[in-house]
Amino acid sequence: MKKIKIGLLGFGTVGQGVWKILNSNMDEIISKCGYEIEIKKILVKDINKKRCVDVPKEILTTNSDDIFYDEEIKIIVELIGGAHPAKEYIIKAAECKKHIVTANKLVVASFADEIFKAVNENNVMIYYEASVGGGIPIIKGINESLTANKIKEITGIVNGTTNYILTKMTDEGLEFEEALKQAQNLGYAEADPTSDVEGFDAVYKLAIMASLSFNTSVDINSIYREGIGRIKAVDIEYAKRFGYVIKLLAIAKEEDNLELRVHPAMVEKNHPIANVGDSFNAIFIKGNAVGDLLLCGRGAGDLPTGSAVVSDIISIIRNNFDVPYNFNYEVNSSKMPIKQSKE
Ligand code: NAP
Ligand code: HSE
Repeated sequence: MKKIKIGLLGFGTVGQGVWKILNSNMDEIISKCGYEIEIKKILVKDINKKRCVDVPKEILTTNSDDIFYDEEIKIIVELIGGAHPAKEYIIKAAECKKHIVTANKLVVASFADEIFKAVNENNVMIYYEASVGGGIPIIKGINESLTANKIKEITGIVNGTTNYILTKMTDEGLEFEEALKQAQNLGYAEADPTSDVEGFDAVYKLAIMASLSFNTSVDINSIYREGIGRIKAVDIEYAKRFGYVIKLLAIAKEEDNLELRVHPAMVEKNHPIANVGDSFNAIFIKGNAVGDLLLCGRGAGDLPTGSAVVSDIISIIRNNFDVPYNFNYEVNSSKMPIKQSKE
């Protein structure tokens, strides 16, 4: 079996999600791209830290050169988070002629110009589906499936942690702090949860979606931002009494200007977005040809995010290695017996 070797930078919630998916779904993955994917090295801060998966210690390293200068490694997956050294690592990966996958919205939203310059100059690819919406195929949606449209609006719940907190406060009367602690334990929150709670994370995601949708380069500092830090139980109770729920929304609308904002909003109880609970995200898009579209799914967590990361790795393999167009259709069609009755 042909093999592609990859290196991971980071082995936290998402890195371990990628590990689990590669271990459980390899047959499926091979059937999609014709290659087995092997994680050759993983960069971490602490080799002795206890992990949720059994990983051979010799795969772990604290020296990034073990990955950048390994000729066998063709794709580098950045999952350490934060601005630095993640940005420098992504640029170095490009300079070392490695293709890149990242889940890092902060880096993509803040340093897009530098990153795409490095990627283009070195003739490699970068994919970042997991940077917005967790497992929801929103980047490929905007960048591939909806390119025939003039996008008029994107409105969504794009932060799983704050949606989890607001849902728990609304449905179970939990205190803010307790709900945040649960979201952190479930791996939804950023290393510094201020980014989630104060709306920065949603701003990065909105900047990425708006840049792709409105053919512009959105400066994150130009986006109005208000988080949920000041929402109290009493606000939620009042909203409920009047038939509303409070959601943190990210909104981009093109009218005369491009309007971009992130803030808590009262959403009518019967609106489809009002019932999107837990760590789910929901992204509404209005295109001038497709009309209204709602994409909804798990916006955070190891497996949903790992799903987007592994799919990006497969996209890179399909686009850069020896994989015939329509590989999975040609190789796999007609193998599954089809049941033709209703029972
Ligand atoms: P995490 O659990 O905090 O894991 C970060 C990993 O990176 C850890 O393994 C850590 O090593 C390693 N690391 C951090 N700084 C490092 C450095 N300077 N050098 C070497 N290793 C370093 O983070 P995560 O939740 O997996 O998130 C990773 C990225 O995915 C972030 O950009 C985040 O925004 C994004 N993302 C996360 C989610 C989610 O649900 N969690 C969803 C979508 C996108 P140690 O383990 O040794 O400490
Ligand atoms: N902290 C982020 C969230 C992770 O809660 O949405 C997914 O990007």
